[in-house]
Amino acid sequence: MSVLKNTEICQNQKKKLIMNFKEFAESRKSVRGFLDKPVSRELIDEIIDAAKWAPTSYNTQTWHIHAVTGDVLNKIRKGNIEETMAGKPHVRDFPYKEEYEGVHRKNQIDVAIQLFEAMEIERDDKEKRMDWMLRGFRQFDAPVSLVLTYDKYLEPAAISQFGLGSLAYGIVLAAWDRGIGCVINGQGIMQSHVVREHAQIPDDQNIMICIAMGYPDDDFPANHVRSMRADNRDFVKYIGFEDS
Ligand SMILES: Cc1cc2nc3c(=O)[nH]c(=O)nc-3n(C[C@H](O)[C@H](O)[C@H](O)COP(=O)(O)O)c2cc1C
Repeated sequence: MSVLKNTEICQNQKKKLIMNFKEFAESRKSVRGFLDKPVSRELIDEIIDAAKWAPTSYNTQTWHIHAVTGDVLNKIRKGNIEETMAGKPHVRDFPYKEEYEGVHRKNQIDVAIQLFEAMEIERDDKEKRMDWMLRGFRQFDAPVSLVLTYDKYLEPAAISQFGLGSLAYGIVLAAWDRGIGCVINGQGIMQSHVVREHAQIPDDQNIMICIAMGYPDDDFPANHVRSMRADNRDFVKYIGFEDS
């Protein structure tokens, strides 16, 4: 397991200014534990201002962001938990595949093992596993959640969803650049009707994903997990190069 220590994280933050892009991108991690400290609207706007330079097909900018905090976010957390505990099936606004196979499944399991080890959750400890899952449905108690949506008329919306993906990565990097941690998460919108109701998301928009964000809690063990990436040789094929 590869886990960064607190001091290394601080050093990474300090080194930020002299990092090149690869170092900066590598230093980012999903953050799943946050300080009880609000993120100002001004800072969120600054992050979005940087992220919105993400490319979209024909520059269509087919996205909406609903920034949610305070009581509204707490109501969303409560609704998500209640529906989940009541055994309600997940309800998303578009079809998607949940069962991964082969190397994808292996990667999924690998990061789950890293997170569970960091959080000292044993495989057969149902209580702790449930607690971790519910934490996800609460969007890891982050002070802010950005809910990303697109107009329903765009369906079938693969191209627009691609655009929202580039926006999401822009948000996560711009936030990290300002000392704000994020976790893009499906868990927070698994009961999309709950999010729609409390965040007053119009019926003509589909909810794509949400991004929980806040000041990282450096004492939260899962924040130190360094997820792995495959070697380029495993997923890149060079064609027509002299040395290919
Ligand atoms: C579309 C998407 C959905 C995700 N959903 C969740 C989620 O529901 N819960 C969670 O803890 N992490 C979620 N993640 C975060 C991934 O688990 C994480 O990005 C991945 O393990 C790589 O780790 P890193 O972000 O630290 O590099 C999601 C990420 C993406 C891009």
